[in-house]
Amino acid sequence: MSIIKTLEKEIAQIITEKGYEIEKTTLLPSGRKDLGDYQINDAFFLAKKYKKNPKEIAESIKEALETDQRLTNINVAGAGFINLTITDKFLYESLNKIHSNIEENIDKQEKKKIIIDYGGANVAKALHVGHLRSANIGEALKRLARLLGHEVLADAHLGDYGRPLGLVLLEIQKRYPNLAYFDPAYKGEYKEISLPITNQDLEEIYPYASLKAKEDEEYLEQARQITTKLQHHEKGYYDLWKKVVEISKEDIKKVYDKLNVSFDLWQGESDAMEYFDELKQIFETKKLIKESNGAKIIEVKQEEENAPMPPLLLIRSNNSISYEATDLATILEREKKYHPDEIWYCVDGRQQLHFQQTFRAARLAKLTQEATKLEHIGFGTMNGKDKKPFKTRDGGVMPLKKLIELVKEETLKKINPENIPKQKQEEIAMIVAIASLKYADLLPFRGTDYIFEVEKFADLEGKTGSYILYSTIRMKSLLEKSPFIEKEEITKLENQTAREIAITILNLPQILTKALDSKSLNDITEYLYKLTSLYNTFYAENKILTQKDNQLKNSWITLTKIVYKINLLLLDILAIKVPEKM
Ligand code: ARG
Repeated sequence: MSIIKTLEKEIAQIITEKGYEIEKTTLLPSGRKDLGDYQINDAFFLAKKYKKNPKEIAESIKEALETDQRLTNINVAGAGFINLTITDKFLYESLNKIHSNIEENIDKQEKKKIIIDYGGANVAKALHVGHLRSANIGEALKRLARLLGHEVLADAHLGDYGRPLGLVLLEIQKRYPNLAYFDPAYKGEYKEISLPITNQDLEEIYPYASLKAKEDEEYLEQARQITTKLQHHEKGYYDLWKKVVEISKEDIKKVYDKLNVSFDLWQGESDAMEYFDELKQIFETKKLIKESNGAKIIEVKQEEENAPMPPLLLIRSNNSISYEATDLATILEREKKYHPDEIWYCVDGRQQLHFQQTFRAARLAKLTQEATKLEHIGFGTMNGKDKKPFKTRDGGVMPLKKLIELVKEETLKKINPENIPKQKQEEIAMIVAIASLKYADLLPFRGTDYIFEVEKFADLEGKTGSYILYSTIRMKSLLEKSPFIEKEEITKLENQTAREIAITILNLPQILTKALDSKSLNDITEYLYKLTSLYNTFYAENKILTQKDNQLKNSWITLTKIVYKINLLLLDILAIKVPEKM
């Protein structure tokens, strides 16, 4: 258990022994450093419980806490706020413990098996700006949940099943009508056919076909038919589809690699189709399916519910399978294969209705156990200056690769790693650009939209990935220059900023817990900035390596080392890589 949590437990015990029964207390980091390191606000709720004056209770708690050797300068402010400071001795002991093992000072949670569904790239369509947040948030939550003791399976859940694929296959057929895939009489192996199509072609084919379908009803109808054929595994089309998925997946993997995002499972919507018949049967047996104009639907509106809630469309009138159906089949598949305690969906907040309907239908049919948690972790969009989802100059969807290039160009202007060959410079710029993009993406609370401001994101000052990386690398270089120390430990700090850094270090476990509870990384990005900038202030104010007092020098170097290790730990949670230099 973390140092602060342990202390909180023991303080609650002391308060209870004083006659005020309390289950737990919270040490709130104080905003007023002159009053103390932490504040306890329990006197107010205890006053209600025991029908006494809060100030009186606070005074009495203060008296009890004064017996604890770890605490000092306990004072009551205002109507009953208790402020306290922890002694330097306890602070240094705690830091030395953290230095020997950071992970000891983390509050592990009761282990759950969690599937995180994120990424959500669509086959044969370029990854776009909308896919960035899912990848960033999902990857970071995966790493954080694992650190806090959970068993996590990350699933890319590729969009490989819907009409877009029908459109792509149709357009390939128009361009290459003589391919054996389209010849019903073909008896050979499809493996032997070389497909004259690259991923680059696919990225051009989909937007072309999608636009054409909007203008040409017949074309759209043909695509619909192919989609249905595909969903029913019709020979030829199905084989071509497999090939297209393979080509596209290779490229998708490359982009995720660049983002330092990886998955345990590369399942697609199509994989769950094996479970579709069973799914349909479950719904049929439970009499949950209705016919509506030739389509099959499920009513998910609850009684006494005033807000509108349209029925879930399971199978369209043309017999094709809906997006909702693919997700329901996937829930069934996941339940059978992995039996998870929770499934988290890191998907754009605009898909809220889709998940509401899907989860409701899953509950109605009892696809999982009652206790299994299904949660949509929605997020806001990255917008342009016009506050609308960020677009390319000509108004199209911004491909993720292009977005990364934009940030890289800007980064190259700002960092100028000297004495480094051109190619290496490019590599560093790419790592820093990705860091800046990720950090900016994870900085606001996940539910809020934010604006893409490339100059700001790539800035070396302020709350940016570049700033964090630059500072972290500087810590590393200080550590490399520091002399060998027999026993690294903190025995004194003698500096107000250093003390503030120490307290901030102590508060890390609460930040991690809060981030996982809210399933948002903003507390971690903010904390990284706070710790880093405090350290930079300290660094600017003090000459660490030329400090004459050896004990102090040892302490300051050890403090630097702890901050450095925490930065690495947090950057790793955010899946941000640190370059050698920049
Ligand atoms: N492929 C979808 C899209 O691009 C996202 C998939 C999200 N995951 C899910 N299980 N529905 O919108």
